[in-house]
Amino acid sequence: MRSSQRVYTYLLTILFLLFHAATVAAVDSDDPNSLEALAEAGGKYVGVEACLQCHESQHKQIIRESHGQSADARTPFAMNGCESCHGPGEKHIINYIAAGDKDPATVESALVAFSGAKASPVEAQNTMCLQCHQGGSMLNWHDSLHEIEEVPCSACHNSHKPSKVMDRETEAEVCYECHNDIRAQTYQRSTHAIREGKVVCSDCHNSHGSNGPAMLTQLSINDNCYECHAEKRGPYLWEHYPVTEDCSLCHRSHGSMHNFLLNKQGTNLCQQCHAQIGPDGTGHIRTFYDAWDKDAKRGRSFLGRNCANCHKVHGSNHPSGPNLLR
Ligand code: HEC
Ligand code: HEC
Ligand code: HEC
Ligand code: HEC
Ligand code: HEC
Ligand code: HEC
Ligand code: HEC
Ligand code: HEC
Ligand code: HEC
Ligand code: HEC
Repeated sequence: MRSSQRVYTYLLTILFLLFHAATVAAVDSDDPNSLEALAEAGGKYVGVEACLQCHESQHKQIIRESHGQSADARTPFAMNGCESCHGPGEKHIINYIAAGDKDPATVESALVAFSGAKASPVEAQNTMCLQCHQGGSMLNWHDSLHEIEEVPCSACHNSHKPSKVMDRETEAEVCYECHNDIRAQTYQRSTHAIREGKVVCSDCHNSHGSNGPAMLTQLSINDNCYECHAEKRGPYLWEHYPVTEDCSLCHRSHGSMHNFLLNKQGTNLCQQCHAQIGPDGTGHIRTFYDAWDKDAKRGRSFLGRNCANCHKVHGSNHPSGPNLLR
């Protein structure tokens, strides 16, 4: 064997060992939030009847909801009942029985809890829900900012009672618990009728994650806007570059201090990019004179005029050419 070959074989062996060690380690290391570990921590499954002894009120609530329909083979109540979500309850019951009159706060729960002082780690909570909810709108849950920032499903969903988040009228209240800044934007001068409930967060966002930016249900900001403002897609004979590029170069999504959800007012909006043209028309290819003010260097009729008075900013089919005239 040539020496270079020997080095090669040696490297391969090390790589193999490293890889093998890594896979063995992955199997050996017990993630305390995995389904298996959570099941082991709880003991045996004891069934709904056992839980009922001490938790009648929770039972009354959930059998009115879709999760409590035992006739539907896919629901928790067609499987392990309460324990489909909370994990096996044997140890929990033993602990509480053994505790007698002791303060419940001092007793170890031993199952998956979704709220209160004994709430389990977020990953453990979400593991339980993800058993049944993987496809559909959940496809991009992993890697979504909500998953990365450890937002539990139960921050938005209460599985015992109807969730506010599932009702268009109350959905935003849930979001505002963490996104209060967005609420403030909906009170600005121009908004997207979010407060009136005509447009809701989930018309534009998938809270479970998406393939687009900002968890938008569409692949890009423009695709999102075209969904409801299809006429802005054109096609136009003369397109305006920023419009086809990204509507948010000029517009805010939730609210703005200026009309039409614009991010700047009047000529300032255009000067972000057309800096050579001043608010008085300086630098503009043509100036516009008032009939009685021919000596004025700059036309007064330009002053105070909005660029959009003469230009069709979203694109134009005007025969006079590429100047986007109305
Ligand atoms: C012997 C009575 C008893 C039984 C049976 C019982 N629990 Fe509990 N459970 C309690 C007590 C007591 C608490 C503490 C309540 C409190 O703090 O107000 C509790 C609390 C909980 C909590 C909240 C987390 C915690 O520990 O504070 C969950 C979730 C729960 N039980 C689920 C279940 C489920 C599911 C079953 C059936 C598998 C079950 N329980 C059976 C007595 C019981
Ligand atoms: C679909 C999953 C699911 C099922 C099935 C379920 N629960 Fe829950 N449970 C939850 C979630 C989620 C919460 C948190 C609700 C909230 O946000 O206030 C909760 C809350 C609770 C609490 C309060 C402490 C805590 O964990 O937040 C108790 C006690 C409880 N459930 C008991 C039960 C019992 C008893 C049953 C069966 C009759 C049951 N649960 C069935 C998901 C479930
Ligand atoms: C054993 C399977 C199972 C588990 C575990 C489970 N679900 Fe479900 N869930 C279902 C089924 C089945 C439906 C009904 C779907 C339908 O009607 O198409 C449902 C419906 C829902 C809905 C829809 C609307 C409604 O009726 O409330 C939400 C939201 C939901 N689940 C959230 C959760 C959350 C959060 C958890 C964890 C706390 C969870 N689920 C755990 C099976 C499960
Ligand atoms: C940030 C809030 C939020 C979080 C966190 C969240 N959801 Fe949802 N979920 C929603 C909203 C909003 C809807 C309603 C969407 C709609 O009407 O288009 C919904 C709908 C659902 C539905 C029913 C319809 C559908 O889209 O399939 C299920 C099931 C569901 N969520 C499960 C989960 C599970 C499981 C988790 C955790 C892994 C979770 N959700 C986390 C906000 C959230
Ligand atoms: C429990 C807190 C919590 C709730 C409730 C919540 N979010 Fe979030 N959300 C976060 C955190 C944390 C982030 C990441 C940091 C940030 O951008 O603020 C985030 C980020 C986002 C983002 C930005 C994603 C990105 O890629 O830039 C959107 C969009 C969003 N949330 C929408 C919603 C909607 C819609 C609701 C209601 C259905 C909601 N959130 C409810 C905590 C929450
Ligand atoms: C008409 C569509 C639309 C609606 C309705 C909408 N959003 Fe957005 N949202 C967007 C777009 C587009 C972006 C990305 C561009 C931007 O940042 O403005 C965004 C960005 C965000 C962000 C991340 C950036 C930031 O500004 O913090 C959060 C968080 C957010 N939205 C939350 C919400 C919540 C909560 C609601 C409901 C109250 C909501 N959105 C309603 C379109 C919308
Ligand atoms: C879910 C539908 C929907 C989506 C998506 C949507 N809009 Fe709108 N938009 C509306 C509705 C409804 C109105 C109000 C129309 C009316 O009152 O006539 C509106 C109004 C507007 C207005 C005028 C606001 C005013 O003050 O008069 C602008 C500008 C606007 N949208 C821009 C956008 C942009 C930019 C996007 C993409 C980020 C977008 N829209 C996405 C539904 C939507
Ligand atoms: C170069 C800046 C600019 C860009 C980029 C832009 N807009 Fe506008 N938009 C404006 C101005 C200025 C107005 C004010 C009314 C007018 O002059 O047409 C407006 C008004 C609107 C209106 C309300 C009035 C109407 O015409 O219906 C909607 C809706 C709108 N824009 C949607 C969009 C969408 C969707 C995109 C992206 C495809 C977009 N805008 C990109 C500058 C822009
Ligand atoms: C985000 C940057 C940006 C903003 C904001 C912007 N434009 Fe433009 N605009 C461009 C670019 C890039 C071109 C293409 C220039 C080229 O082809 O030389 C263009 C082209 C034009 C043209 C066509 C003439 C030409 O030189 O091709 C007119 C007219 C125009 N813009 C007017 C406006 C008006 C009016 C506004 C404000 C409502 C505005 N623009 C805002 C970037 C912008
Ligand atoms: C009173 C109507 C009017 C107003 C107001 C106006 N324009 Fe124009 N603009 C025109 C006309 C007409 C042309 C075509 C010039 C020609 O063909 O001689 C033009 C041409 C342009 C061009 C392409 C040629 C060049 O000069 O680069 C740009 C870019 C432009 N305008 C931007 C703007 C901006 C930015 C504003 C606001 C600060 C604005 N316009 C305000 C009428 C106007």
